[in-house]
Amino acid sequence: MAELKEILVIGGTGAQGMPVVKALAESGRYRVRVLTRSPESSRAQEIAALQNVTLIQGAQDNQQDLHRAFQGVYGAWVNTDGFTLGEKNELYYGFRAYEIARAEGVQHYVWANIEYALKIADWNEKYHCGHMDAKGRIGEFILAQGQEGMKSSLLSTGPYMEMLMDGMFVPKEQPDGSFWWVNPAKAGKIPLISLQDVGVYSLWLFDNPSESAGLNLEVTTDDVSFTDIARIFTEVTGKQGVHKSVSFEQYAPLAEPYPGAFVNWGLGPNAVRDESTMTWRDNFSAWWHYWGDGITRPRDLGLLDRIHPGRIKSLAEWMRRVSYDGRPRSVLKLVEDWNKKYSDKAVTYGQGD
Ligand SMILES: NC(=O)c1ccc[n+]([C@@H]2O[C@H](COP(=O)([O-])OP(=O)(O)OC[C@H]3O[C@@H](n4cnc5c(N)ncnc54)[C@H](OP(=O)(O)O)[C@@H]3O)[C@@H](O)[C@H]2O)c1
Repeated sequence: MAELKEILVIGGTGAQGMPVVKALAESGRYRVRVLTRSPESSRAQEIAALQNVTLIQGAQDNQQDLHRAFQGVYGAWVNTDGFTLGEKNELYYGFRAYEIARAEGVQHYVWANIEYALKIADWNEKYHCGHMDAKGRIGEFILAQGQEGMKSSLLSTGPYMEMLMDGMFVPKEQPDGSFWWVNPAKAGKIPLISLQDVGVYSLWLFDNPSESAGLNLEVTTDDVSFTDIARIFTEVTGKQGVHKSVSFEQYAPLAEPYPGAFVNWGLGPNAVRDESTMTWRDNFSAWWHYWGDGITRPRDLGLLDRIHPGRIKSLAEWMRRVSYDGRPRSVLKLVEDWNKKYSDKAVTYGQGD
């Protein structure tokens, strides 16, 4: 049997990276090396139990670890974590990861991108969202280096559909059995992506370098507003869904992980930060404005259908497949880790009282 090509996955224990590790490993065409700070974590152990997956201990924000991680692999799928690094460190290590991959002779680099909100919004600072813009800038830098020597592709995702279970989009169950989404969303349609399909798109990028080199693959499952989400929830579950739009100022105290949190809140309130570190409020005010004002560009659904004919095509289909019931479930490793460490200060995103 031919030797399998090896792919380094950075962020492979995370919500987005786990389906990528599974899709690559289960294809039978790749071996996967996953960089993690904690090989003993339950998520790391879950993927290490798969055939063709190995773990390598190290941090995204350590250049020696990055050299070791990229050494000898054919390809790389890289999702740095803006919510632990913050915008400035994500920029630095995002650029360095690309440079180090080139130095180590990697042949195909896939960057888990987010659209460059500030640029698409014509540089209006109201839309400066640090966790989007850091990735978007790095994505532009990567494609600007061309395809000689190392091929590169961007996989651009919007918010995960799974955020309806964990994170910003979880509704609050009311005593009368209805589910309320109370947030600053406006009429803008948000291109939600089901994480189940991210693995398939990533595998396609590695399998088809002649088409994927230089490509920014912008994926979506369904473009929906919050009025749509509440309506579809009612249609699928029979439970009443309500969307109540409130100002960001009314919403923020209910939603921020803890009062005065920074965007890299997972490091705790006392981590060293400087004036470049956005507060959770500034970052997510820009985020809600960006999606609510409908600034994002349409995705090429024809291309997505061709790449993945069996893709989940609607929010309703996703809700049925995952038996969505409006109640929280664990999706993000960051939130899971935080809640284990600080069980007395668990993040509830407005679910608690
Ligand atoms: N939430 C959304 O809707 C959404 C949508 C698109 C993009 N994103 C982006 O996705 C990124 C977060 O990934 P995720 O959603 O998969 O979150 P997650 O479930 O919380 O996972 C975070 C991942 O980052 C890894 N990580 C964090 N700091 C690290 C470090 N210093 N060194 C090595 N690994 C580190 C973790 O690995 P270990 O703990 O094992 O080391 C884990 O694999 C963010 O940049 C976010 O902007 C999120």
